[in-house]
Amino acid sequence: MTNKIDIRDLDLFYGKFHALKDVSMAVRQNGITALIGPSGCGKSTLLRCLNRMNDLIPGCRVSGSVALDGRNIYAPDAEVASLRKRVGMVFQRPNPFPLSVRDNVVYGLKVAGSHDRRQLAETAERSLRGAWLWDQVKDKLDAPALGLPLDQQQRLCVARLLAVQPEVILMDEPCSALDPIATMKIEELMLELKRDYTIAIVTHNMQQAARVSDFSGYMLLGEMVEFGETNQVFTRPADKRTEDYITGRYG
Ligand SMILES: Nc1ncnc2c1ncn2[C@@H]1O[C@H](COP(=O)(O)OP(=O)(O)O)[C@@H](O)[C@H]1O
Ligand SMILES: [Mg+2]
Repeated sequence: MTNKIDIRDLDLFYGKFHALKDVSMAVRQNGITALIGPSGCGKSTLLRCLNRMNDLIPGCRVSGSVALDGRNIYAPDAEVASLRKRVGMVFQRPNPFPLSVRDNVVYGLKVAGSHDRRQLAETAERSLRGAWLWDQVKDKLDAPALGLPLDQQQRLCVARLLAVQPEVILMDEPCSALDPIATMKIEELMLELKRDYTIAIVTHNMQQAARVSDFSGYMLLGEMVEFGETNQVFTRPADKRTEDYITGRYG
């Protein structure tokens, strides 16, 4: 088993605020890695570091390294556009574009200049199947994406990522707007996707981390308190602070 991403000594500041403190951890290839911890501990910040989404935040400074397949994505010559294609992100609230279902899925390809109708149709179907959405939308590909139920919108956002063939999928609390049944479906989808992709997920739902992830990192106040195999972290935490959190004694 190899590490897809290696995070070493990562520090992040929002202006003067020290939001990530010397974080080191790895994201295993074809695994699901979960970041857990109380609200405000830095989970989303750390996740955003993995495809340099923090670049977009004024006053944000990063030091340390994040190696993707062994190459530091923060190196001066690193290419951010190709990085964002290799490492895609699904957000807390589904965020389809105000376009048709089809145009959402093939958006990235069209932006990249692909206009071959057959190829676009094939990609749309393959991506929608990959996101377990094809059967539900195959008869309404031209309908507005924003008219779909929320859980389908979220899977559409997954399909939109799959269309550009990423290597890593980042998910920031992807189920927080969904009901338990839709949540279960996304969790099952993640387990399917990890055969072909590497997944890192932020969740405040510890049951979810325990159910789907292979590795878990427990964060507190910008620090990675504990990182290890999910089974170990949840049943034999090495740090007292992790134990307090997972047993509900936190705070
Ligand atoms: N754009 C930002 N500017 C300034 N501070 C931020 C910004 N985003 C997050 N923070 C702060 O960084 C800390 C970590 O936030 P975040 O990564 O969103 O935590 P989590 O996802 O674990 O809830 C919080 O104290 C938050 O207020
Ligand atoms: Mg967050």
